[in-house]
Amino acid sequence: MNLPSLKEAKVRTNKEIKIINNDYIVPKSMKTIGKDKKYYIKTYGCQMNVHDTENIKAILEDMSFTETLDMGDADLILLNTCAIRENAHNKMFGFLGRVKHLKESKPNIICAICGCMAQEESVVNAIKLKYKWVDIVFGTHNLHKLPFILEESLKEKRQEIEVFSIEGDVYENIPVKRDSKYKAWVNIMYGCDKFCTYCIVPYTRGKQRSRLHKDIINEVETLVKDGYKEVTLLGQNVNAYGKDLKIDYTMSNLLEDVAKTGIDRIRFVTSHPWDFNDEMIDVIAKYKNIMPYIHLPLQSGSNRILKLMGRRYTKEEYIKLFNKIKEKIKGVSITTDIIVGFPGETLEDFNETLDVVNTCKFDSAFTFIFSPREGTPAANMKNNLTDEEKNNRLYMLNELVNKYALENNKKYLGKVVPVLLEDFSEKEGSLMGYTDTMKLVNVETDKKYLGKIVDIKITDVKTWSMDGKIDKKV
Ligand code: 5AD
Ligand code: SF4
Repeated sequence: MNLPSLKEAKVRTNKEIKIINNDYIVPKSMKTIGKDKKYYIKTYGCQMNVHDTENIKAILEDMSFTETLDMGDADLILLNTCAIRENAHNKMFGFLGRVKHLKESKPNIICAICGCMAQEESVVNAIKLKYKWVDIVFGTHNLHKLPFILEESLKEKRQEIEVFSIEGDVYENIPVKRDSKYKAWVNIMYGCDKFCTYCIVPYTRGKQRSRLHKDIINEVETLVKDGYKEVTLLGQNVNAYGKDLKIDYTMSNLLEDVAKTGIDRIRFVTSHPWDFNDEMIDVIAKYKNIMPYIHLPLQSGSNRILKLMGRRYTKEEYIKLFNKIKEKIKGVSITTDIIVGFPGETLEDFNETLDVVNTCKFDSAFTFIFSPREGTPAANMKNNLTDEEKNNRLYMLNELVNKYALENNKKYLGKVVPVLLEDFSEKEGSLMGYTDTMKLVNVETDKKYLGKIVDIKITDVKTWSMDGKIDKKV
């Protein structure tokens, strides 16, 4: 048993990061553990978690498990959890209630918890005490050990907790079962060293560790050969890519090399304004296959709050960067993240955030009420607002954000734009996909266009999506 430790998770040393390049092999004895058994996996949180789930699925299928989308039919239930805000916690514990119920009638079901919540000391303590029927807890650094943990749990019939609070290594060659045949997630780095005062990620995901660029390029080249049209380069703070490798190779070099693989579309998330330099902007502007879409979290428009958040930029610097990106990258769309109700946020501070939204007129924004995360500095700062005040601020902010989202979308009416039609739409007889600027478009059309980048004429726009039809020229 290895338990998480908040104290250890905070540590950052100069220890060299190990790149583990061995072939990933599930021992023969474990290959049939899942024979005639089904797994069900529920994923919460960000794209990083979604991609981890793709790894977990491949590992389980290598052990002969098959996937079911019906939890009631499963022999193994996994919850890949998120820790970013309190409501993610609530969702997970709510879900556990349903699993417990199932286990009462089918006691042999194995229940496993992984992801960011598994890295939290307090969560694991609660599971040990109050959720003794949970069979397995494994952390974000232990994903590759899943076959061994599962075997141990089945053999020993006791709760297995395998969570390391280490700074982390880089494991190459972990198998992957991708959800899509057209777009793929590609990790370029793990962890984060920014330690924004509200954020739990540096504790749950460990030290910043970049993958070697040759490994990333190899992965993208294989995806191109396999017919993939789009890659999204993933990291908590992708602009800082390479800084930990101590070689002269940065995010702009990586973007350029990925562009040269010839893949049709390249995206990347998430950017921190601090590391977004001119070279990166120039490379994005230069290559047509790097999409003109940037997610650039603002968090707050008040310099006082930005400082308390440890964000390392002022609102003036943010706006300057925003304008530079808009100027140099033709037709770029920019989205953002904003937190309201950070400890000490006054009405003036909040109004400054609204001012920045009025200046930047973002294409869209993810907005959140501050949620104290145990162990982070901001969790100990004094809350000065009632829930009602926070909800009111969120409501006002959303109204403004939505107004600009719709205004921006209206500029697309009647235009013809390329869309990668990646899946069936919720609307019957329609496909859905995204423009290069990351606008969701529903297109009433034949499924023969699935997986293709097609010119679409935009016929209607809403706040969150657009409708379109195939342009006649196709
Ligand atoms: N409370 C509220 N929002 C948070 N985020 C991160 N941590 C917190 C928190 N403790 C938001 C930030 C980040 C996004 C992924 O989640 O806006 O950019
Ligand atoms: Fe969290 Fe992003 Fe800040 Fe890292 S840069 S601490 S992931 S908000």
